[in-house]
Amino acid sequence: MPVSLVILAAGQGTRMNSDLPKVLHPVAAAPLLHHAMQAGRALAPEKVVVVTGHGAEPVGAAARAYDPDCAVVLQEPQLGTAHAVAQAMPLLAGQPGDTVVLYGDTPLIRPETLESMLLARARHAVVVLGFQARDPGRYGRLITTGEALDRIVEFKDATDEERAITLCNSGVICADTALLASLVAAVGNDNAAGEYYLTDIVELARARGLSAGVVTCDEAETLGVNTRAQLAEAEAAFQARARAEALENGVTLTAPETVFFGFDTHVGRDAVIGPNVIFGPGVTIESHAEIRAFCHLEGCHVSKGATVGPFARLRPGAELAEDVHVGNFVEIKNAILDEGVKVGHLTYLGDADVGEHTNIGAGTVTCNYDGVNKHRTRIGKRVFIGSDTMLVAPVTVGDGAMTGSGSVITQDVPAEAVALGRAKQVVKPGLAPKLFEMYKAAKAKRQKGQA
Ligand code: UD1
Ligand code: CA
Repeated sequence: MPVSLVILAAGQGTRMNSDLPKVLHPVAAAPLLHHAMQAGRALAPEKVVVVTGHGAEPVGAAARAYDPDCAVVLQEPQLGTAHAVAQAMPLLAGQPGDTVVLYGDTPLIRPETLESMLLARARHAVVVLGFQARDPGRYGRLITTGEALDRIVEFKDATDEERAITLCNSGVICADTALLASLVAAVGNDNAAGEYYLTDIVELARARGLSAGVVTCDEAETLGVNTRAQLAEAEAAFQARARAEALENGVTLTAPETVFFGFDTHVGRDAVIGPNVIFGPGVTIESHAEIRAFCHLEGCHVSKGATVGPFARLRPGAELAEDVHVGNFVEIKNAILDEGVKVGHLTYLGDADVGEHTNIGAGTVTCNYDGVNKHRTRIGKRVFIGSDTMLVAPVTVGDGAMTGSGSVITQDVPAEAVALGRAKQVVKPGLAPKLFEMYKAAKAKRQKGQA
């Protein structure tokens, strides 16, 4: 059955005490909004509508950055969750199948949970995701009779007896798209908050003789971020889950609690991740690769058998082929390193192509930026770049060539040539002891002057 997704992201998030709209605060190097969109993506939705309000422009841009095909609607003013869903429904008019409503500030919902909600739709017209709350606080309460959900009562409107219920509303709701449109259109605002509550659709559906049901999940999945403390809590929960999944998938984590994953990090089986490794967005580590201690990686691809670090930084566009070695204090950005390349120490490769089995000596720098434009460095196969070579781009070094240590390479080097770009050495026999004496005398004179 086709599925549509509505993601509510219009709220202000006052308690974050921030200039940044709440749903743009990051967990695992991605905005909260992307987490909600990623959970929903697992349902292969035909249509995705994101409802924006506060910070509509950046929130809409972030939504499109994740999914260029998503629709963004503006809810202005924000009159409640049912009103928010109602803004999205015209975009789903005539769309067959079900709609799942998610909150943009709830990053930990698992795709499996959403799938079980869709399955429960076989038994109920409206399916609500609930959870047993340790501390039910101000959550909406689910009023049930056996399996059936009678209605949802908001905390503000609940009696003491209802407030004693611990089965709470996560906010995630699923129903047939046309039915949802007609239900949210019927919701009024006669309640303690004067808001249009999405939760009222349950009672409305029941009044039409339709059935409503609850699917439950672990409370941890429903954590909504309203404060910085909850943001930190969500980060910790995400990382705990990502570490457990990596271990489960056959990845070695030497010190799991010190590894931080990005929301979309892929690590292959039998890869080894050392202590204190941080992954930003867009990282893929293939099987049998090793990332040693204290590395920082983002937007990069590390192939099978490659080793990185300790203390290496891979930035966006770093592409390491099989068996590449990147060692300590090396930074790679927007550079393709072919099979077997070795970059052992203290090097910057930016905007570069490096051919297979080339060796880059310590302290090499691709001088890629002239203050205005970036330029590319092209290094062929089986090249030997001597230590402390400055490659002033744009520049090309041909296959099998060599550069002398300390060279500043400003002109292309043909294949198999040796390029030396440094001052000729001068040797003065016997001069060193005389210089030492001169320096000592000068120092003694200075110290006498100070006394
Ligand atoms: C809502 C539920 C409550 C549930 C709780 C779970 C209603 C009426 N109440 O309460 O039963 O236990 O979530 O966290 O639905 N939003 C909009 N436009 C609006 C209002 C809200 O887009 O006009 C968005 C917010 O940005 C947020 C989400 O909807 O992402 C939930 O809104 P919020 O005001 O936090 O609802 P709660 O009062 O927490
Ligand atoms: Ca909330």
